[in-house]
Parts: sequence; structure tokens; C-alpha cells
Amino acid sequence: MIVLGIETSCDETAVAVLENEKILSSVVSSQIDVHKKFGGVVPEIAARHHLSNLPVVFKNALSQAKISLNDIDLISVTYGPGLIGALLVGISFAKGLSLKLNKPLIGINHIVGHVYANYLTYPNLKPPFIVLMVSGGHTEILHIQNEKIEVLGKTLDDAAGEAFDKVARILGLGYPGGPEIEKIAQYGNDKAFNFPKPLYDSKDYNFSFSGLKTAVLYTIKKLDKIPKEDVAASFQRAVTDILLHKTFKAAKDKKINTVVLAGGVAANKYLRTKALEISKKEGIILLIPPIEFCTDNAAMIAIAGYKLFDGTSDLNIDAMPNLNL
Ligand code: KG4
Repeated sequence: MIVLGIETSCDETAVAVLENEKILSSVVSSQIDVHKKFGGVVPEIAARHHLSNLPVVFKNALSQAKISLNDIDLISVTYGPGLIGALLVGISFAKGLSLKLNKPLIGINHIVGHVYANYLTYPNLKPPFIVLMVSGGHTEILHIQNEKIEVLGKTLDDAAGEAFDKVARILGLGYPGGPEIEKIAQYGNDKAFNFPKPLYDSKDYNFSFSGLKTAVLYTIKKLDKIPKEDVAASFQRAVTDILLHKTFKAAKDKKINTVVLAGGVAANKYLRTKALEISKKEGIILLIPPIEFCTDNAAMIAIAGYKLFDGTSDLNIDAMPNLNL
């Protein structure tokens, strides 16, 4: 079965072609440079760029996969959560294609896509496992069971990536903030500041990062000269400590011995190193997919479509910006 995946929920225009579970092509066009000057993703600009980029990315994906339009057997598209205008571009394109080709259409939840991305790298991975999903829009601990994905905990305010982006802005660094913080943090002392770790000791698996960001702001307001490297390193340590403490606590509480990291923040080397240390100490298997499958891509939407398609085409799918699991 040839499956076409389409992903336009935020600022990446992505199309992928899979033959069953094998990737024939996966093309991602990022809009980061467009949004950089605004310090974050501007929804309307994102939608407009998807509109102009999607046909080009689609053509590239087909030609890299060496297939033609008529080879497509199933169209799989992200229908939420995400930016409404951005989602509508992908969904409209997918619906048009489905009608033209008379091929079935399936809508995929973006978060479900991130979970299924792991099967691209680890085809033998079997539930149960725990996923720490950390991106610019999401921070969730997921418990993947056979047919079910249970949200064990999530952020009550800012996502972890959002916190990185906001603290980077406070420090006068560029966008996206995560890589900028990571870059200067390597020259800083991660124990220079003892930033708060909200909800660290709470019994649930929820997160809260907005207070941490405010603590960074108030701390540096009191200083004459800002030791940016130390602030970045201490902030990065606080976020990492909170994320990993809760994730491995969830794995231990649920007696699950595999933890997977997903989302853009999973690119952070400090977080990866600490996660590896804890996993070794706790005897838990840690899986970190390559970064192209941690961040937004359409191969994950295609594989989710392939595995979840039950033979029914759904042309009634609508963009659901706040779609839950
Ligand atoms: O998954 P992603 O590429 O896109 C969505 O959010 O949909 O994640 C982007 C987020 C941004 O907030 C960015 O600052 C953060 O991931 N990020 C990082 C790193 N690379 C990207 N955060 C910390 N360290 C990094 N190396």
C-alpha cells in the first residue's frame, strides 16, 4: 500500500510517501526563517506559506519516491491540534486529492503521529511504553498501551519548548530559543542559579513552566551584569530535572521499562545525556529517535494512517485546533 502523509499543523510543510511502513520519501520545508524576525510563529503567515509551499513539497515527495499520482492508495493528513489556518491548508489539499483520485482519506491527530513516529525507527517497538512529548506546543507524558494512548500528565501553562523560547527572548537570544540556550549553556555553570522547579514534588505527572520563566525574568532584573551562560545553563538544568523526574517516575509507577523521547526539545543534548544517565541507573530502556522523526514530519502521519486505517474514508474531517487525544 502506498500511503501519502501530509502535515501542516504549525510551521513545517511536510509530505511523505510510505510503502506500507517503509519510507520512500519524507520532505519537510521549514518556515523558521520566515518567523524568526517575529520571535515566534505568526499563524496567518504560516497558513499563507503552507499554501504556496505545499504543492512544491508534494511534487518533490512524489518525485523522490519515484511514484505518480495514481500510485497513491491512501491519503493521511493531520487534522489537529495546531493552528487553524495552517491545518485547513493541509486538509483542503488532502480532500481535493482524495476526491480527484477517488482514494480514501484518514485524519490523524498530530500527537498520535508523534507516537507512531517511533515505529519508523523502532519497527519492533511494542506497547507498553512511556513517551515524553516535548515541543514548542506540547509537553505531555503519554502511556502507550495496545490500542490506547493515555495522557498521564501535561503542562498546565507553557510548553517546555515555549519556555525555552521565552527565556531566550528574555536573554536577548534568537528564535527558536531552545538551540540558542543550549549553545551558550555549555559555557555556563548549571548550578549558578537555583531556579524553582514548579510541581516537581506533586504526586501527579503535570508540569508548569510559566513560573520558572518569570523567576528567570525577576532574577536577571536584579542583576547589573547578566551572566547569560549561567542563567541559560541553570534554566536548562531546572527544565531537564523536572521533565525527567516526572517521566521516569511515571515509568516506575506504571512498571513500564521503556521510555521514548519525542518533540523538538528532545534534540537538547543536556536533556539526552541526563535521560541516559537516569535510564542506566533505573534499568529502564531509553529510546531517542533521530531528530528528523522527533520534530514535525509527514512520515509519522503516513505511518499512523497506515496502521490506523480501517477501510473507511472520511471526507468530513475538519480542522480541530484544540484536538485532544
Ligand atoms: O517539535 P518542534 O520542532 O515543533 C513544534 O513545536 O511543533 O519543537 C520546536 C520547539 C521550540 O520551542 C524550540 O525552541 C525547541 O523545540 N527546541 C529545543 C532545542 N531544539 C528545538 N529546545 C531545547 N533544546 C534544543 N536543542
